[in-house]
Amino acid sequence: MEKKPIRKSPAGVTRRDFIKGMGTGALGTAVLPPLLGQTIATRKGRVPVYDKKTIALTVNGRKVSLEVGANETLLDVLRDRLDLTGAKKVCDRGECGGCTVHLDGEPVYACMVLAIRADGRTVKTVEGLADDDKLHPVQEAFIEKDGYQCGFCTPGFLMTTSAFLEKNPAPTLDEIKQALSGNLCRCGNYAKLYEAVETAAKKLRGA
Ligand code: FES
Ligand code: FES
Repeated sequence: MEKKPIRKSPAGVTRRDFIKGMGTGALGTAVLPPLLGQTIATRKGRVPVYDKKTIALTVNGRKVSLEVGANETLLDVLRDRLDLTGAKKVCDRGECGGCTVHLDGEPVYACMVLAIRADGRTVKTVEGLADDDKLHPVQEAFIEKDGYQCGFCTPGFLMTTSAFLEKNPAPTLDEIKQALSGNLCRCGNYAKLYEAVETAAKKLRGA
């Protein structure tokens, strides 16, 4: 059978190179070098390709600037470079919610956000939830209702809940279940977690 000719992109990258790079997690070695310094087309227009970039973040109210690699996640930058280890690296693949932080007020899995995508944005981690010594009402409710158990899942639940209640201060039980569906508790403490969220909502409403 006649072999199809191998088609290369203008930057000299074949589809096979790309898949190989993704498969080994070695995007940087297989694909990036030919593209560095160039721009590539995306749905949002052409974007530059970096290997490193200096980014500016506001983290828990503090402005920081640091150079990050193109493949560094926001979670790794928070934990390994900024010593903010509250967001947990549990699955590292967007499945458990243990790494949840707020990015411009929205809950995100920090393990699934490249640090360069957070450039210029505001990040809040669980370390920034309390107001100095005064716990956030969500933290108080988790303690009161035994929603708080292990240190792996709890930070993510707190961040998801606090962002959710900002948008929906009087949720139904179904809405609470839906909001927490991206956070996993392996021991199945869900009944107490839902109760904690209901209590937190009341506290935030002053009810
Ligand atoms: S560690 Fe990010 S979703 Fe599990
Ligand atoms: S209490 Fe953390 S996994 Fe269940």
